[in-house]
Amino acid sequence: MGRALIIGAGGVASVVAHKCCQHPEVFEEIMIASRTLSKCEALKNKLDGGKTKIQVAQVDADNSGEVIALINKFKPDIVINVALPYQDLPIMDACLATKTHYLDTANYEPKDNPKFEYKWQWAYKDKFKEAGICAILGCGFDPGVTGVFSAYAQKHYFDEIHTIDILDANAGDHGYPFATNFNPEINIREVTAKGRYYENGKFVETEPLEIKREYDFPQIGKKNIYLLYHEELESLAVNIKGVKRIRFWMTFSDSYLTHLRVLQNVGMTSIEPIEFEGKKIVPLQFLKAVLPDPATLGPRTKGKTNIGCIFTGIKDGKERKYYVYNVCDHQECYREVGSQAISYTTGVPAMIGAKLLIQGIWKKPGVYNVEEFDPDPFMDELNKCGLPWHEEFNPVLVD
Ligand SMILES: NC(=O)c1ccc[n+]([C@@H]2O[C@H](COP(=O)([O-])OP(=O)(O)OC[C@H]3O[C@@H](n4cnc5c(N)ncnc54)[C@H](OP(=O)(O)O)[C@@H]3O)[C@@H](O)[C@H]2O)c1
Repeated sequence: MGRALIIGAGGVASVVAHKCCQHPEVFEEIMIASRTLSKCEALKNKLDGGKTKIQVAQVDADNSGEVIALINKFKPDIVINVALPYQDLPIMDACLATKTHYLDTANYEPKDNPKFEYKWQWAYKDKFKEAGICAILGCGFDPGVTGVFSAYAQKHYFDEIHTIDILDANAGDHGYPFATNFNPEINIREVTAKGRYYENGKFVETEPLEIKREYDFPQIGKKNIYLLYHEELESLAVNIKGVKRIRFWMTFSDSYLTHLRVLQNVGMTSIEPIEFEGKKIVPLQFLKAVLPDPATLGPRTKGKTNIGCIFTGIKDGKERKYYVYNVCDHQECYREVGSQAISYTTGVPAMIGAKLLIQGIWKKPGVYNVEEFDPDPFMDELNKCGLPWHEEFNPVLVD
């Protein structure tokens, strides 16, 4: 039925490729293209032998011209961008030039300014519309499934949603004193940034990790949660009409936070280049090089993640609460696709978004966030593709 060009060969790309191969009726052919060809080849070697045909290629996705040449050669229906957020715009440019659909899991961020915003990608709306192609932005878990959950709550349970709390808990233990579960550079940039939440039409800024609560998560137990800014706050504030407050919370262990504080205090998380032995290096990139590669955490990580959204609002004139979440087991993910749950919970929704687009179910010209599509087919696919969800109608709220 279709062909997908997967850009990137890291933790998330590996899950996307595995899951595409589980749906050969939709993904007849995939190409895995990334900066390091050997990683693409290693992935192909693991996956070859099934019905989906696999090709590999080397590409520098910072260079639109290279991506255009690759698209013209492979002629995919969709480009699934699971490289890094810095590549979003060059890849979108290549999709425009070749009239190819586009999907990603993280919004664009300039390398020298850790400030992720949708404005750069939303600016492509008219151009994508005119070209008759569809871009699905932020189709991982958060952002991604959290937006689908919001659209589902809006469609089925609320006349008006007043508050959304997005709760991302990882109770996985990889046995290292300090490691990040996905790309360390992106992860640390996110966590060390100022916090922000949406309230009454504007964003309120906090110091990094200033606001802390405790929440008792289903299947995981009590965890400290910290308020962070996360990119879906920006799109949900626009797309969930009438919402008054949206907050994003993430769990961090005390050990993670202590290490992070020390690394920050000694300057290792800085993105300002420094001179070292006659060479310019970026401390955060050097730190990435010495930390465990997230792709190697899979076999070591035990425990579960729980990511979901708690909504409050009104239905038929009455106040209503609703909690919808997924629990994912690191070791089960590893057994199925050789990756831990963080990559799994991102890669599965990316495959589902691409599948729905190829099938014509989620396809309209323009640039969209996931909550702008019908959530029902996506919610069905989550249950079928390894990320089943649970509902509670009287959850404890985050105060
Ligand atoms: N929405 C969500 O829920 C969610 C959650 C987690 C992660 N994410 C996003 O998912 C994406 C992938 O994360 P990950 O953990 O898989 O990261 P990763 O393991 O670091 O993989 C990134 C891949 O992109 C490749 N790459 C980097 N720059 C490139 C370039 N210029 N041209 C071609 N390929 C390039 C890397 O190549 P090398 O191997 O040569 O370095 C690597 O294979 C990131 O954007 C991350 O922010 C989203």
